[in-house]
Amino acid sequence: MTASAPASAPESTPEPAPSAAVPRYSPVAMALHWLLALLIIATFAFGVYMADLPFSPSRIKLYSWHKWAGVTILLLSTLRLLWRLGHRPPADAPMPAWQARAAHATHLLLYVLFFAVPLAGWAYSSAAGFPIVWFGVLQLPDFVPVDKTLADTLKEAHKLLAFAMAGLVLMHIAAALKHQLLDRDGLLLRMMPARR
Ligand code: HEM
Repeated sequence: MTASAPASAPESTPEPAPSAAVPRYSPVAMALHWLLALLIIATFAFGVYMADLPFSPSRIKLYSWHKWAGVTILLLSTLRLLWRLGHRPPADAPMPAWQARAAHATHLLLYVLFFAVPLAGWAYSSAAGFPIVWFGVLQLPDFVPVDKTLADTLKEAHKLLAFAMAGLVLMHIAAALKHQLLDRDGLLLRMMPARR
């Protein structure tokens, strides 16, 4: 491409670098994608780690951080959903129809889990009789009563939903890496800022 560009092309209209031709998500969508990706992976790993710790004051502190991160995920997910509803993503990258359908279904399920996982955690905390005080400043309302049986059920639901999300995230990352490393179709660039 570059080799065939006329030598006399004006300086103000340089030939775009290949990466500039890729249709991309908006900068806000990218920022929310990577921020939430980091936060969700870290909060999941943290949750798995703290659940096996013996009862102690530092375990209680870790539980608080996990809950604050979960509420932050809920807020950022609300922002992300609102942004997504108001802004079309780029047209699908070229790929077989079944892969595009699988990608859409995975994304939709992830959006559902962005809300279901933290909400189940919040409800579990309320049912167990430990209201959430976000960053130690803002006490959140309890939307279920204190109830031991309900707490046990919600704990299982929170865990199950979180592991389902982890499975989907692994599939999502594997698919992104397959496109990038095997198909070499530059799909990852759609979620990356353009190089100048
Ligand atoms: C190393 C980690 C990750 C990579 C490489 C990655 C890569 C990508 C790419 C390339 C896209 C655009 C796909 C397309 O346009 O067809 C995308 C979209 C998306 N990703 Fe990820 N992702 C990662 C982690 C995550 C995590 C942890 C989550 C959620 C827990 C997530 C949720 C989503 C969602 C929901 C979309 C669809 C966005 C929309 O259309 O609104 N990603 N990701």
